[in-house]
Amino acid sequence: MRGRLVAGNWKSNGNLASNQRLLGDVRAAAAGLRGVECAVCVPYPYLFQTQQLLAGAAVTWGGQDVSQFGAGAFTGAVTAVMLLEFGCRYVLVGHSERRSIFGESDAVVAAKFEAAIKAGLTPILCVGETLQEREAGVTEKVVSRQLDAVISNTGVAALAQAVVAYEPVWAIGTGRTATPEQAQAVHACIRGAVAAHDASVAGGLRILYGGSVKAANAAQLFAMRDIDGGLIGGASLVADEFMAICRAAARGQ
Ligand code: PGA
Repeated sequence: MRGRLVAGNWKSNGNLASNQRLLGDVRAAAAGLRGVECAVCVPYPYLFQTQQLLAGAAVTWGGQDVSQFGAGAFTGAVTAVMLLEFGCRYVLVGHSERRSIFGESDAVVAAKFEAAIKAGLTPILCVGETLQEREAGVTEKVVSRQLDAVISNTGVAALAQAVVAYEPVWAIGTGRTATPEQAQAVHACIRGAVAAHDASVAGGLRILYGGSVKAANAAQLFAMRDIDGGLIGGASLVADEFMAICRAAARGQ
């Protein structure tokens, strides 16, 4: 059976004092978790603090972006090897905010995915449609295009070392969650698209749902057959809420 994963995405939030409280609370609560892996993706400057505070805990962590390049003259870019040095297991790749605000194309996202895989990090590849695309009926086309860019660059086998997160852009930070049925339909489409290349990779692929997941709606989402956990933004900044979501994912198994 595929393992469950709930990953927090702190985005550009936090400070040393609030992180210390949040990580301490998450660490304590995660000690009692069974049947789900809990992770936090924190801003780069807080990776050192996260590594210190989560050492030996039942919580993994990661970055929110990674350079598509290796070491060298790439001002401002953080390499996959640097993330590994700070104990990261995961890195978000192609989050919709990176795509829309920072202009990352499918090709750039595919290159970042490849850099993560080559270094031994587990990329969490984010895909998802805008409201306009959903209303135009092209959701599956958009998500397949985003996925294909990665598969054609790295090969389908690389997905065995990766996680996919379906995040409809219209549901991110809006309080408007996809219904469990809407999310399940796209998750099934993603798994089907991967299965067309390799059924065994598709069967083992963890596909997370993200977009306004809260403790109150998590259990229904995680009850769907192709939803293997969540990518949690706002709610991951509140320890009780985040841990309740983790527990809901464990229960869904
Ligand atoms: P949200 O964000 O949970 O605040 O909607 C999810 C994400 O952007 O990963």
